Amino acid sequence: MKKYSIAVVPGDGVGKEVMPEAVEVLETLAEVHGGVSFSFDWYPWSCDYYLEHGQMMPEDGMSRLQNHNAVFLGAVGDPTRVPDHVSLWGLLINIRREFEQVINVRPAKNLKGIRSPLANPNDFNFIVVRENSEGEYSEVGGRIHRGADELAIQNAVFTRKAAERTMDYAFQLAEGRRGHVTSATKSNGIVHSMPFWDDVFKDMSVKYPDIKTEANHIDALAAFLVSKPEAFDVIVGSNLFGDILTDLGAAIMGSIGVAPAANINLNGKYPSMFEPVHGSAPDIYGKGLANPIGQIWTAKMMLDHLGETELGETLMSAIEDVLAAGVKTPDLGGSYKTKEVTAEMIQRLKVMA
Ligand code: NAI
Ligand code: MG
Repeated sequence: MKKYSIAVVPGDGVGKEVMPEAVEVLETLAEVHGGVSFSFDWYPWSCDYYLEHGQMMPEDGMSRLQNHNAVFLGAVGDPTRVPDHVSLWGLLINIRREFEQVINVRPAKNLKGIRSPLANPNDFNFIVVRENSEGEYSEVGGRIHRGADELAIQNAVFTRKAAERTMDYAFQLAEGRRGHVTSATKSNGIVHSMPFWDDVFKDMSVKYPDIKTEANHIDALAAFLVSKPEAFDVIVGSNLFGDILTDLGAAIMGSIGVAPAANINLNGKYPSMFEPVHGSAPDIYGKGLANPIGQIWTAKMMLDHLGETELGETLMSAIEDVLAAGVKTPDLGGSYKTKEVTAEMIQRLKVMA
């Protein structure tokens, strides 16, 4: 029996509604399929916590999270009571940085039962691996001569180490999928960092002779994700390019309420963190309308990361079956409540076992 200890941080808003659902699904999975057990430690760190204690998490928060196999997070943000830069930086970004979660991974898949805004989604199924520690989002630069003569410099920082580890992750992922990696580049317009990125990509492809590779300029690649998303398997990109492509991926799936994400620590010193793409959705919070699929699919990514890929596959099938059967929350055009979707999914998992 494999035991996993999971740090659960529901956070704010709908995070508090979808997290118990995902945890219940994981508990059901362990119960009916066997072989694993989970222990969940719940941490109430959130904007409520901030309003009471003056910080988003206690001083020893990070060390408490560290003793787990993974961090499972809901959503952070309560913008009318706590400014976003305080809440996001005090919790989410803090964890990503301190735990050296240097890669962000987001799958996008055409799920039966969900209407993609694309006329021809053609069963697309790709995953974007984004460099998450440097690149265009560096803090190197500055502004001088405020006013009419003002000047701003924003430096993009690319290191071989970060590019290599990101691409290596992408190639390994492709080995377990359809064996195809596309690099997002722009070496025709960005003349130093992107030719460098291309060089590292070429070097890496030599290490993986069985993987088919391709480099697409980011503008064309963005267009391809609309015109022929089915052509892609694994896409690897810098921080900025990955950021843009992952939002595009969530958009063509049909609702942000289903999109999952992982922040991966690669050096094994700290746990990775799994969180849905959506935020705390204050507009629907408290009404039982939140779609739990994003959090549940995120749990599937966590299972895969823990090495429980068979359980992950079972969970993914249950998600797809439930959606295909029309069990959908209002964001997907359905009329099911959050808890009704979970109940159907649990039912499905029990039938599958
Ligand atoms: P949001 O993702 O919370 O909401 C955007 C839209 O999607 C809203 O119409 C919302 O109702 C809908 N939506 C989101 N999740 C849903 C779900 N599970 N089911 C059904 N519909 C869903 O983004 P927004 O409104 O820009 O931000 C709200 C708060 O969340 C802010 O404080 C923001 O900073 C924070 N935020 C936090 C993130 C995180 O924790 N990773 C990510 C994005 C925003
Ligand atoms: Mg984004």
